[in-house]
Amino acid sequence: MPDSQHIASIRAALPAVNQYAYLNTGTCGPLPQPAIDALASAARDQAEQGRIQTELYFSKYLPDMHRLRVEFAKLFGAATDDVALTHNTTDGINIAVWGQDWRAGEEVVVTDLEHEGGVMPAILAARKFGLNLRTLSLLDCPPADVPNRIEDQLTPASRLLVISHVSWSNGALLPLDEIMQAAHARGCQVVIDAAQSAGAVPLDLPVSGVDYYAVPGQKWLCGPEGIGTLYVSPAAMERLSPTYTGYFAMNMEAPDCWSCYGHLELAPNARRFEASSIYLPGVYGMLASLQWLRKEVGWDWAFARIAHLHRYARGLLGRNSRLRLFTPDPAAGLLHFYLPADVSPEFINSELIRRDLRIRTIPHMACLRVSTGFWNTEEEIDELAAALEELLEQPA
Ligand SMILES: Cc1ncc(COP(=O)(O)O)c(C=O)c1O
Repeated sequence: MPDSQHIASIRAALPAVNQYAYLNTGTCGPLPQPAIDALASAARDQAEQGRIQTELYFSKYLPDMHRLRVEFAKLFGAATDDVALTHNTTDGINIAVWGQDWRAGEEVVVTDLEHEGGVMPAILAARKFGLNLRTLSLLDCPPADVPNRIEDQLTPASRLLVISHVSWSNGALLPLDEIMQAAHARGCQVVIDAAQSAGAVPLDLPVSGVDYYAVPGQKWLCGPEGIGTLYVSPAAMERLSPTYTGYFAMNMEAPDCWSCYGHLELAPNARRFEASSIYLPGVYGMLASLQWLRKEVGWDWAFARIAHLHRYARGLLGRNSRLRLFTPDPAAGLLHFYLPADVSPEFINSELIRRDLRIRTIPHMACLRVSTGFWNTEEEIDELAAALEELLEQPA
């Protein structure tokens, strides 16, 4: 199928992208029609049929949750046993950070590229367990040099590094395999914040040697909010304990897996990091999004299109001398730029919204950020570039 036809059929399946130029997937992706239908139909069933057909839990809901884990695992090139369902990125990072066997004086390491969802669990764990918090400075570091900087700056006390695959602060796409090698060479495990990478770049987590990969549904995977996944490698699973738990975590295949007298057999796989009931319409919506992405959009096509549109936006916005693009190369689907110092990002953003161009400000960086989704068109990016030219035109 020619690209133009493919893009037209994708756009027909994404109602929100026809409301305005949808250039902010870094916040939330658009829901495809099959996911909208699945969400609505599951919510309607719950409303009309009630939620007390417990027999459906075993005959339908648990198998469908398993289908969702299977679908996530395919995206990672991983075994289904190595993925747990979570609620979002932050949930997955918390599971990985809190579940370590921490000893006072050890180091938990973050970087200055991280989101609150990565930094806050590390800060609280440091306070609670008497850890040292080390922050690596990477904002000025070319992505290719990041593994060296990690290897130089980790110490023998560094136990766990929390780092984004794609940074929300500057859009850098970091070299995953080399980061894993560098940290492992220093005896440090790594939690990857995958909020801006899962669904935007190709992944093979076992080949990359990833320990923990925390993923949201609602961004580049075009799913609902409230559902995500955490990949835990088999080696990391040996070291990680569940911090909170509940009946979803027990070994449901074993006949007497728990008792009120202290017996508990946890699931032999990453399901042991799940806890309890989950919003079922979210499960059905997420499953429908992932299936639509794999079968109708095509992962490889989506990754290539995101990268192409990123380059297109970089080339076009780069021609505007009033903008300073600072996303390093390589990048994924995020492009960050500064405005002249006397122009407020909030003002420009509100003017763009008035023109139906939806990007966003990143307040802690005082910049603007464009996300290029696979559904976007070159024309939308042309419109954005033209609007920025007009808004930043200098008085003669
Ligand atoms: C890099 C990064 N990490 C974490 C988060 C938080 O995501 P979630 O709401 O899935 O926890 C975001 C949200 O924008 C993000 O960009």
